[in-house]
Amino acid sequence: MRKPIIFGNWKMNKTNAQAQVFFDGVDAFANDKADYGVAVPFTALATSVNAAKNLHVAAENVHWAANGAYTGEISIEMLQEIGVKWVVLGHSERRQYFNETDADVNKKAAVAIEAGITPIVCVGETLFEFEADKTEEVVRKQVAGCLSGLKGDDVANLVIAYEPVWAIGTGKSATVEIAQNTCALVRDEVRNLFGGDVADKVRVQYGGSVKPDNIAEYMSQEDIDGALIGGASLEVDSFKAIIDAM
Ligand code: PGA
Repeated sequence: MRKPIIFGNWKMNKTNAQAQVFFDGVDAFANDKADYGVAVPFTALATSVNAAKNLHVAAENVHWAANGAYTGEISIEMLQEIGVKWVVLGHSERRQYFNETDADVNKKAAVAIEAGITPIVCVGETLFEFEADKTEEVVRKQVAGCLSGLKGDDVANLVIAYEPVWAIGTGKSATVEIAQNTCALVRDEVRNLFGGDVADKVRVQYGGSVKPDNIAEYMSQEDIDGALIGGASLEVDSFKAIIDAM
């Protein structure tokens, strides 16, 4: 039985003061029906880790090098120092605006796992690829590229978020059928690469315009183990409504 996993993704939103307000309003409401967390900007990580008693806290990125001449980047050790246990990797906005590749995500995932930080690895096709019927090809290639060379036991413990780019922040969520089918093929690719045990354990999230009023439908699907939620994770009331819908 895979435990559901619901993460918010604040993206480039919230100051420390705003993060504190969110945790004051939401943290006590996290129940044991799922693992709940939020991915927060680097500057709000320490405040969030200190405020979180029940919610998990993720960074939204990390660099693969231990340290060095990488102006503007953040290392694993910096995350560890403040007690961060999760990191979102390869979000489509990182891929689209900052040219991140599967190979980058792969290196980052390896160092995170090594440090005991659990990656949430994001995959998903663009609108162009979706319309050209390339979803399966693209998503299988991303899964294989991002997880290349990792150990099966480590893959079993991480999270893969399937987020069709055309459904992110657009209000245009994927149909439940598309979301289920693509999450199933993510799992199938994990099965091909790492075997059935790993595929049965790895948790696969759907992301893209998930809201309080559609989350239950996604969660009812066999291969959807959770959600990665942008817009609806920003307000106390909407995140509480997501928790209530579980
Ligand atoms: P959205 O974002 O829920 O606002 O569509 C999802 C994401 O980017 O993770």
